[in-house]
Amino acid sequence: MSKPERPRFIPLEYHRPPEYEVRARTRELLQLMRRRRSVRDFSPDPVPTEILTDLICTASQAPSGANRQPWRFVLVTDLTTRRKIREAAEAEEKKSYEERMPEEWLLALEPLGTNWHKEFLDIAPALIVVFRKDWETLADGRKQKGYYVSESAGIACGFLISAIHQAGLVCLTHTPSPMKFLVEILHRPPEEKPFLLIPVGYPAPGARIPDIRRKPLAEILSVV
Ligand SMILES: Cc1cc2nc3c(=O)[nH]c(=O)nc-3n(C[C@H](O)[C@H](O)[C@H](O)COP(=O)(O)O)c2cc1C
Repeated sequence: MSKPERPRFIPLEYHRPPEYEVRARTRELLQLMRRRRSVRDFSPDPVPTEILTDLICTASQAPSGANRQPWRFVLVTDLTTRRKIREAAEAEEKKSYEERMPEEWLLALEPLGTNWHKEFLDIAPALIVVFRKDWETLADGRKQKGYYVSESAGIACGFLISAIHQAGLVCLTHTPSPMKFLVEILHRPPEEKPFLLIPVGYPAPGARIPDIRRKPLAEILSVV
């Protein structure tokens, strides 16, 4: 074990807004986030790489256990690779829908109208594949463990999905199961495990979404 570094501190950059402004911003954000929906019907219109890398940079501002930042983002825009991913995802999803998913799961998915066809994987102009890193190999070859890896990667994905929506783009949180094919297609090292597959872009003209509802606040919030 190497000697721990002494903690260093810097001033927090923070300007306290007046309460009326906090209230207004909160309301505005709520209205904006109420319009966020998962989209499965994409336009092939491209999104500039710089926009996508800025969105990923926003995701990387998420907090993480012991600041280990246990994530890796792979941005896929190359059509041949997107096609390979679609083909592999559809093969797994076909097996899942037809053989692996229990009746209860299929019933839960019914209101979403999903099936094993995943056209969006090669229609959307970009796929952001998020990997969780259970450990990291340091320059000297030692393995450094991640802490609260799934919580950290999940929060980073939340930042990403929120940033995509706030930027005026749309995405889908996709988990074709199992996702091991992403390690092979994208040549990832053994410490990276596929976490989420997020197609990003613009919605197709006339895109439709399932008519589903949020639970009311009273059902999800207890104030003590
Ligand atoms: C962890 C996670 C995995 C998901 N996996 C899939 C998926 O594989 N395919 C899909 O079509 N939607 C998937 N979704 C999207 C959900 O179906 C969607 O978020 C939910 O129905 C609510 O709809 P909304 O996002 O439009 O509000 C997933 C969402 C989450 C958070």
